[in-house]
Amino acid sequence: MSNKNKSFDKKILIIGLGQIGYSNAEYMTSLGLKVDGYDISEKAVKQALKDGIIQNYSENFENYDYYIICISTHNPENMFVPYLDGMYQIIQKISVEGKKGALVGIDSTITAGTCEKIIEILKHRLHVVHVPHRFYIHEKKEHGVCQTRVLGGCGTCCINEAIGFYGDKLNIPLHIVQSVRVAELTKTVENSYRFLEIAFAEELKMICDYTNVDFKELRESINTKWNIHILDARDGIGGHCLPKDSQMFLEFSNNVVVTSLVRAAKMIDQQYRFHLMQKASGELPLITHR
Ligand SMILES: NC(=O)c1ccc[n+]([C@@H]2O[C@H](COP(=O)([O-])OP(=O)(O)OC[C@H]3O[C@@H](n4cnc5c(N)ncnc54)[C@H](O)[C@@H]3O)[C@@H](O)[C@H]2O)c1
Repeated sequence: MSNKNKSFDKKILIIGLGQIGYSNAEYMTSLGLKVDGYDISEKAVKQALKDGIIQNYSENFENYDYYIICISTHNPENMFVPYLDGMYQIIQKISVEGKKGALVGIDSTITAGTCEKIIEILKHRLHVVHVPHRFYIHEKKEHGVCQTRVLGGCGTCCINEAIGFYGDKLNIPLHIVQSVRVAELTKTVENSYRFLEIAFAEELKMICDYTNVDFKELRESINTKWNIHILDARDGIGGHCLPKDSQMFLEFSNNVVVTSLVRAAKMIDQQYRFHLMQKASGELPLITHR
């Protein structure tokens, strides 16, 4: 625990104690900061209390200086679909109980335009920033809480307040953007781009399977080129980040372009999943005329 934070009497409330909320709380507590938590899942709360990464469970949002929102933003019934109702419920609660002048930091992934609605609901009584998380559970040290994060705010005062917390207090390297919409889009675009890269590998893998070409050998051969890196194709694009984040991007870009690469990538991913099932059942027809 860091001694320098013992006199720091500001209070943090982490809202959502899943993967990223837990890691945030764990890190902030390790710095000696005062961290409480809130989650709708009793299991998540019990675990956080048991592990000592939060001091208290708090349903009461009064008197916190930092509200760090880490809740899930996909539809509980379908992880491919974005869902922000929970986020707006939390914001309503903060608007009633939250401390004037406190910072609301949104670490969860959100659709472009969300922060503008949030600041309106809060009537700018609190500062609002978006600091999208880039957490990768398998490489927590390199790609955990303290990797470079993009930070955008609803005003200069919001950004300054957030630099003091995320940058100075938490020591997170920050890339500041002036428009909060750019921060929102950064996250959904980077994951859409990743989606495209994986979908391309899946397309190539299907073509190889149908035409009896060794995908591994082809991939290794292509990747000898200095500026190319074809990814591996595995089980389909899963998890609750890439599918819903690329959907958020599609909702934002809707009708701007005639046809979207991201939309096509989603169709390829679906076809690839079907392809894997066919392969597993030995039903895959070979195309031999090439
Ligand atoms: N896990 C990652 O690798 C990762 C990386 C980058 C960004 N994100 C984003 O961070 C956000 C959270 O992801 P996660 O992986 O921690 O999810 P998670 O499912 O592990 O945890 C989310 C937690 O939020 C809680 N929750 C949901 N709605 C709530 C509400 N209305 N009030 C209080 N608690 C609520 C859930 O009970 C759960 O404990 C998502 O937007 C996700 O896209 C996740």
